[in-house]
Amino acid sequence: MGADNGARKAGSVREWLRGLEVFAGPLAQFDPAGAPAEPVGLFLDWLSEAVAAGVPDAHAMTLSTVGEDAGPDARVLILKNVDSEGWQFAAHANSPKGRQLADRPRAALTFYWPLQGRQVRVRGTVKPEPPERSAADLLARAPSARAEVLLGRQSSHLDSPEERDGALRAALARIESEPELVSAEWTLYTLVPTETEFWQADKDRVHDRLRYERPDPHGPWTRHLLWP
Ligand SMILES: Cc1cc2nc3c(=O)[nH]c(=O)nc-3n(C[C@H](O)[C@H](O)[C@H](O)COP(=O)(O)O)c2cc1C
Repeated sequence: MGADNGARKAGSVREWLRGLEVFAGPLAQFDPAGAPAEPVGLFLDWLSEAVAAGVPDAHAMTLSTVGEDAGPDARVLILKNVDSEGWQFAAHANSPKGRQLADRPRAALTFYWPLQGRQVRVRGTVKPEPPERSAADLLARAPSARAEVLLGRQSSHLDSPEERDGALRAALARIESEPELVSAEWTLYTLVPTETEFWQADKDRVHDRLRYERPDPHGPWTRHLLWP
């Protein structure tokens, strides 16, 4: 048993959680008055600072979607690109999230960089990129990751690890004999934002929040401070 487990068992879970530090920092500074007119450059500045400071998996984000039962769903994905059009990620179109996005093409992304005490939230509509761009993304991935995509069974029930390992070996063998093999269902998606919020923690809890808003996804941005 680790030391943390011992501490947890000594008291209630509530006390244990209350004793954990948040916003330990060292926190970054953010002056919303100096923020640019558009959010992408500021996002890339914050991401670069998190990477430079050694935040692990700084380009990982939570993708939230609307489930087929109309309830929320969420999972962590890797950010593939950001440009003036939007935020890109890649997924199998026949995974739960792919089916959810086909059904309701709206989503939210959440980033958290604890060393800086920074959160970024992005909401908008999601569109699939053309097949050749999705194929290029897939071909740039490691063979083992491509093999999983070829199976196309993500998140369906698995009967045994042996069944999985055998199927992966067979898919890897196919990739070795056909190096350009791609799955037509692997999809690069772009989230075109209508809202992007920058949230900067403050040790005294007077957090700074700045939200960029544009109801028309190709219209101009307006900027608004938000109550913490
Ligand atoms: C750090 C991290 C990065 C991940 N990156 C991806 C990714 O880029 N694409 C992907 O489909 N799944 C990725 N996953 C796995 C997803 O979180 C999720 O388990 C999987 O996509 C199935 O989600 P779904 O059942 O909602 O479709 C990642 C998981 C972690 C923890």
